[in-house]
Amino acid sequence: MNLKQIEEFESQVLFSNYKKYPLFVQKGRKCTLYDFEGKRYLDLLSGIAVSALGYNHPRIANVMRKQLKKLIHISNLFYHPYQALLARKLLEISGMERAFFCNSGTEAVEASFKLARGYAYKNKLGEDKNQVLTLDDSFHGRTYGSLSATYNDTYRTPFGPLVPGFQFVKRNAVEDLRAKFNDKVCAVIIEPIQGEGGVHACSREFLQAARDLCQKHRALLIFDEIQSGLGRTGRYFYFQKFGIRPDIITLAKPLGVGLPLGSVLTSKEISLTFGPGDHGTTFGGGPLACRLGFEFVKILQEEGFLADIREKGEFFTQKLLDLKRKYPFVVDVRGEGLMQAIEVNFPAREIVNQCLEAGFVINVTAGTVLRFLPPYIITRKEIARFAKALDKIFSKVPADQ
Ligand SMILES: Cc1ncc(COP(=O)(O)O)c(C=O)c1O
Repeated sequence: MNLKQIEEFESQVLFSNYKKYPLFVQKGRKCTLYDFEGKRYLDLLSGIAVSALGYNHPRIANVMRKQLKKLIHISNLFYHPYQALLARKLLEISGMERAFFCNSGTEAVEASFKLARGYAYKNKLGEDKNQVLTLDDSFHGRTYGSLSATYNDTYRTPFGPLVPGFQFVKRNAVEDLRAKFNDKVCAVIIEPIQGEGGVHACSREFLQAARDLCQKHRALLIFDEIQSGLGRTGRYFYFQKFGIRPDIITLAKPLGVGLPLGSVLTSKEISLTFGPGDHGTTFGGGPLACRLGFEFVKILQEEGFLADIREKGEFFTQKLLDLKRKYPFVVDVRGEGLMQAIEVNFPAREIVNQCLEAGFVINVTAGTVLRFLPPYIITRKEIARFAKALDKIFSKVPADQ
């Protein structure tokens, strides 16, 4: 089968809800993807921030083989060792006290909203204390609760009515946050660096104001680190840069190193909101996914691993700043660690296509933001090779852009 044939085949049997790249992937090795004709692509997207250890990582493959022979699934009616082992690791790196496992980012966000509303209700913190504040440009998922907290109207409008009780606040606008806060607010959800919204970081001042206002109004602060967490920015979690602690953390993306796995981390007290039967999932926290997650966090914890991500991130930023100096249509370079972006002043989809043609997988978000989320194991040489290719592509952008 070739690309044309798979496109045709899929169009006959699948929903048409994805706009796919013209790339028919056969396999991956380290940071390189191979199509069915043997063409190689340097991957700077990691399956949207999932394949953080690249492809066919020997330790992950080994653990996977071992666990496959033992147990893949058992449900949450029974015990297996890896859920608690992974939980302990996540608590160790986050300073939280309890973990819940699910299958995806949107499920982690849904659980966090139920937790926040249930916490206010069960602790009798006030009548109608069920409002959630969320940010302009945010992305938290596509199921009803998480979609209600997601900013982009094109994702929301056709599917209303959405869940009531969500209100948007301007990113980094402390006054707007203060104005919208009251005792009816049970939670604030924030991506400390917004991913889909265009790689925009929240300021220390804004995060601190959110922390203080949550304290004052007995609301819970949720940091959605689904994209920015677990090493992506060169820290276990981006919020650790500021030392501002949330009440709840949502995680997913790289946690299962390719298998669906999400998590909610919180304090013991807040976790007690959910008694038996209050929340659950059939698949969440299965032995195979959790064992892979456990191995992944062990690798993150190895000496120098996060520092290497930070250093490579700085190298990447420098390369992008070189391009900004050279090309007037580049309006901004943003990012932290291996979550990087370069914003241009024209729709950037064509640049993504040209990168693909040249053998590089990247992505555009918010229309004009080229976003880079490479595997953590990318090398400086690979980053430099990509920057050179992007320079060549930029050099051909018409002057009137
Ligand atoms: C910050 C953030 N939250 C939530 C989600 C939703 O995750 P999922 O696609 O696994 O449901 C995403 C996905 O891109 C995300 O980036």
